Amino acid sequence: MSFEELLKKRYSCRNYSDKKVSLDDLKKIVNAGRISPTARNSQPVSYYVVTSVDNVLEMRKDVQALGGNAFCEEVSSFIVLTIDKESYDNKLAGNRDYTGMNTGIIAHAMCLEATDLGLATCMLGRFDRKAVAKMVGIDEEESERVMLVLAVGYSDDEVIQDKDERRKKMEEVTKYL
Ligand SMILES: Cc1cc2nc3c(=O)[nH]c(=O)nc-3n(C[C@H](O)[C@H](O)[C@H](O)COP(=O)(O)O)c2cc1C
Repeated sequence: MSFEELLKKRYSCRNYSDKKVSLDDLKKIVNAGRISPTARNSQPVSYYVVTSVDNVLEMRKDVQALGGNAFCEEVSSFIVLTIDKESYDNKLAGNRDYTGMNTGIIAHAMCLEATDLGLATCMLGRFDRKAVAKMVGIDEEESERVMLVLAVGYSDDEVIQDKDERRKKMEEVTKYL
């Protein structure tokens, strides 16, 4: 698959089969995050791979707690991305807040890796943060902050809408100076 094909193939899947993702594949997905660029190579993100039955049940509840994400009832593995408190508080050089940028760059790389492995993903920004922090065992006041949850599984979609149809046109978003 060419890189362009991979970019087009990745989409937010909201319909999963019950096939489980192997630990090997989940490690590859985390590795794609680990080697991603971050501001000043600060590498502030930690990864919590959630696959055990009890924890998956808890995660399903937590990501639906604010409404939506009902499709997560079918998801059997999640990866929680947290960011170091130090990075969050200091905001690095020039007092700029790079937390969202760092997390987003990492999350997209992870989704592309998963897609390349034949898996499907959905980035989840809507969840009960306190409950997720408790589930992964971190104290947000002391150590890390939960940034994003990645749902990972096998797609059960037969037809996937062309992404281009759901995007603004090139002319709308680009200026050549
Ligand atoms: C930071 C972020 C948070 C998101 N949170 C959710 C979410 O909580 N639930 C959901 O179903 N999709 C969520 N999405 C997926 C977006 O809705 C999706 O990426 C967008 O509609 C574009 O569709 P595509 O990913 O299929 O290309 C999130 C995406 C991003 C980047």
